[in-house]
Amino acid sequence: MKIAVVGTGFVGLPHAAVLAEQGHEVWACDIDPARIEAYRSGEAARIERYVNEPGLAASVAENLGRHLFFSSRMEEAAAGAEVCFMCINTPPNRDGSTDLSFYRAAAEQLAGILAARTDGRRVVVVNKSTVPIGTARLLEGILRAAGAPNVGVASNPEFLAQGNAIDGSRRPDRVVVGADGEADFELLRRVYPQFQNHVRIRYLETTPETAEAIKYVGNTLLLTYISFWNGVGARIAESLPGVRMEDLKLGVTADSRISTWGSYVSNGAGGSCFGKDIQSLIYQLGQAGQATHLLQAVFDINEYQKSYLIDRAVHEAGFGFNQTTVALLGLAFKKRTNDMRDSAALKAVENLLGRGVKAIRAYDPLAMDEARSRWFNPEQNHLFERISYHDSAEEAMRGADAIYISTDWEEFRGLTPLILSHARPPCLIIDGRRMVADVESLAAAGFGYLPVGGPYLPPGTAA
Ligand code: UGA
Repeated sequence: MKIAVVGTGFVGLPHAAVLAEQGHEVWACDIDPARIEAYRSGEAARIERYVNEPGLAASVAENLGRHLFFSSRMEEAAAGAEVCFMCINTPPNRDGSTDLSFYRAAAEQLAGILAARTDGRRVVVVNKSTVPIGTARLLEGILRAAGAPNVGVASNPEFLAQGNAIDGSRRPDRVVVGADGEADFELLRRVYPQFQNHVRIRYLETTPETAEAIKYVGNTLLLTYISFWNGVGARIAESLPGVRMEDLKLGVTADSRISTWGSYVSNGAGGSCFGKDIQSLIYQLGQAGQATHLLQAVFDINEYQKSYLIDRAVHEAGFGFNQTTVALLGLAFKKRTNDMRDSAALKAVENLLGRGVKAIRAYDPLAMDEARSRWFNPEQNHLFERISYHDSAEEAMRGADAIYISTDWEEFRGLTPLILSHARPPCLIIDGRRMVADVESLAAAGFGYLPVGGPYLPPGTAA
């Protein structure tokens, strides 16, 4: 079956690669010719400059020219395709609504191409990236206005987490297809024959609007779990003496009705999806005249959590940040990515600079180039000159008055001996990810320890 994929970013490229693995003839197109050239080269380093996912470059290289083709011309990609996936970026506007201008432009171009067809065959255009509820109808209107004959619309949302795109596409929990009639459901079943009647994978057929809503409700519920644990569970363990965070978590999530996901308390969830999607759902419900208190609280708790530990350092540890040096360990929004969108480190830097720190000594295993060139470019804000970048955690912590752990990189679990040998007491350790082990020896050596989900341990205390 020939399939077109329109847009080759984080959603489109892994999707195209895994469809090609299934033996479909997949044509992926993009308006950025440099991307297309990089993908066509089959070279891992060039592909990963655009989308860095484990197993992706190998999958592209393996299928290139056999099942997977790239073009910067949408006409070429769409010619003869029975299914066209829309994988276009849909960034947020300031008011939380979704900017559909890129999406519309691509949809209008595709509609023109489909209108010019003469083969008369059924084609279904499928929304894959996250779009507001009702966008399949908008697409239907665009296709109708262009006069495209015998076309259907569908919604087949992406549920992948970053860092797991290829494995997640090969073995999803569920495949949700929203369409209007049997002909289009049947085309999608032919796209995903491996997921039909699967013992573990739920294949759900529903309306386009329900499929669109499933994506928003899923992400919003996941963020609700995180905000519940950060805003309730962690606060209990931080402020009521004797409550142990890990036991609290184990005891509560032993109930099979309660998710363990989200119970890993943190300095706030980041990334390109949760914040954007909950804001969009708040906007969509607001437009429909509905109250959105719960969703707003979930969002606010998560945003506050990104500055909360710095506030706690001031109020509980009496740490004045003015003119101090802070080591910032971790810049990415989670481990195994260089993505810093909405990351807790962005808020931490803003907060620390606002409090007058003298220097921020940053370290991240993957995200330092991203930080330097995109987020903390001194040409945009001269205060970013106070940030220096170091090749290891131990280098970053040299001479620091405080160490702030912001990302859950596995290597940070081994920080205790490094702190003992490279940092200088009474340096304050602010642990936004509960990474540090053996806090008793740190406290005994004269360090202060302030974790999310636990009380402040002043220097010299035993836990
Ligand atoms: C998220 C969802 O998990 C995916 O299901 C969804 O498809 C995707 O958004 C999307 O809409 O495209 P992702 O943004 O890649 O995926 O990241 P997650 O792994 O969910 O992590 C989000 C943030 O929550 C990270 O900062 C992570 O460190 C944090 N987190 C996660 C916690 O603070 N505590 C937890 O227990 C779990």
